Amino acid sequence: MSQRLSGKVALVTGASRGIGRAVALAFAREGAALVGVHYGANADAAQATVREIEALGARAVAIPADLRQGKAAAESLHRQFRAAAVEALGDPRFDILVNNAGIAPARALAETDEATFDEIVTVNLKAPFFLIQAVADDLRDDGRIVNVSTGFARIAAPSHPVYAASKGALETLTLALAPTFAARGITVNAVRPGVIETDMNAGWLADPQARAGAEALSAFSRLGHPDDVAEVVAFLASPAARWTTAQSLDATGGSKL
Ligand SMILES: NC(=O)c1ccc[n+]([C@@H]2O[C@H](COP(=O)([O-])OP(=O)(O)OC[C@H]3O[C@@H](n4cnc5c(N)ncnc54)[C@H](OP(=O)(O)O)[C@@H]3O)[C@@H](O)[C@H]2O)c1
Repeated sequence: MSQRLSGKVALVTGASRGIGRAVALAFAREGAALVGVHYGANADAAQATVREIEALGARAVAIPADLRQGKAAAESLHRQFRAAAVEALGDPRFDILVNNAGIAPARALAETDEATFDEIVTVNLKAPFFLIQAVADDLRDDGRIVNVSTGFARIAAPSHPVYAASKGALETLTLALAPTFAARGITVNAVRPGVIETDMNAGWLADPQARAGAEALSAFSRLGHPDDVAEVVAFLASPAARWTTAQSLDATGGSKL
């Protein structure tokens, strides 16, 4: 097994379940020393991820923060992770931030009220922005920031206009911040998953017709697995991706080519 992240310290938001959990486990398999497993409300799932990481020989800590609280949540998350890193390793600095936590309610234009708009934009864009701001000084030189976007940033999604726009803005943020961080060898990239089998999609994928439609979107005629995205994130987090920054990497399984 390769150990491309040997000794690295990483914080993954939304790592209790789905893609974030797969990313956290991939980092542990790659030799990470400590992984911050952020979550919103599901403490049991976060603790289960922590135990899985520990079984792989890495350290892990579960950190709650409801990202609907925007900047305050981002700063609380940073404070908690900093304290955990000091306790575990005697050093607050870390190497990899993955902004993965997100929400994707299906609300077409006419069905979107202001509260829903604000919640989507706060969790998917505002919280990642202020988390990056909060952690910037603790990120080591040659570190990594990976923002999890969506294939809906390139494929029209009339069912999810605010969600798609929030992730499009996250990609633009990725581009805008890359030069600042490049001064310290830190790369800033985004990854665009397609339809992945996670809790986020469990409801509508239970319908066989919808499932067949989702499978047909991909050039490989199947749904994505969280590991399909986690491996791409792990590559971007690794030294092998040191010459790639400000990019949005497609991990949609060739959807709608
Ligand atoms: N699944 C897909 O098909 C797909 C496709 C494209 C992009 N994506 C993106 O990939 C990312 C992960 O998606 P997923 O499918 O793995 O999602 P998921 O299975 O629904 O898991 C969401 C994760 O985000 C956390 N989270 C949700 N709301 C939060 C809040 N208000 N505060 C803090 N944490 C919160 C959850 O924590 P709790 O466990 O505590 O609730 C959980 O860890 C998202 O950004 C999503 O937009 C997913």
